[in-house]
Amino acid sequence: MEVVIAADPDAAAQVVADVIAHVVRERPAPVLGLATGSSPLGAYRRLIDAHESGTLSFAHASAVLLDEYVGLPADHPEAYRTFIRREFTDRIDLPTERVFGPDVTAADLPDACRRYDRLIADLGGVDVQLLGIGGDGHIGFNEPSSSLASRTRIKTLTDTTRSDNARFFEDDEYDVPRHVVTQGLGTILEARHLLMIATGASKVEPIAQAVEGPLTAMCPASVLQLHPHATVVVDEAAASGLRLADYYREAYTHKPDWQQL
Ligand code: GLP
Repeated sequence: MEVVIAADPDAAAQVVADVIAHVVRERPAPVLGLATGSSPLGAYRRLIDAHESGTLSFAHASAVLLDEYVGLPADHPEAYRTFIRREFTDRIDLPTERVFGPDVTAADLPDACRRYDRLIADLGGVDVQLLGIGGDGHIGFNEPSSSLASRTRIKTLTDTTRSDNARFFEDDEYDVPRHVVTQGLGTILEARHLLMIATGASKVEPIAQAVEGPLTAMCPASVLQLHPHATVVVDEAAASGLRLADYYREAYTHKPDWQQL
């Protein structure tokens, strides 16, 4: 795992946007794993800017979502498919029909989950999977106690997550759906590059647990420790609980020129 400590949230967003832009430029048919939540928004804005300035095209890319609420109307502003279109994909030239998410309206949800895993495999797998981290260490919507080998499936949100996400639902946690479909931890691990972004003081504890704590289902993000190519980009605030922060800074400063993130 590589930890990049950026000076502030803007600098962290730039590091993440640069990695994604590189993949989009290099791969003939890049598959981007997109995350929702507030953490990736700065990186999306930078990628939109690059597109608008004519230096980056996503016309040959596809996008797959990590997760989705169950039970929201498809056009609900906080449905993740709506969110990602509004915040990112409708503002670049990535074809709308190539933005995929789990089908949470299917009568047979377990079958829809299996189909989603197959779809990702049929696309050739995810080139770079962007991830945020929840206050309880979740990634996607894999709550603590999720199997480290899990596949896309239905999950029940913890009260902590529903209360954290109430800010997107006019601060009423009772409006936050209880059920979601999320790529499993095993599914996420199949992406070729895992790229996490976390900024601000609220992420100190989950980042410390994920990066330097034990590999455990109680901190689902700790599964990044199993991945051969995982990058965690944090700002100084989110990095403040990392015991090896100086080492990460040193390693990044002296990174060989030929080595990409
Ligand atoms: C939600 C999403 C996660 C995201 C998390 C953190 O629960 N399902 O993918 O990482 O929120 O959100 P934020 O980035 O707003 O802190």
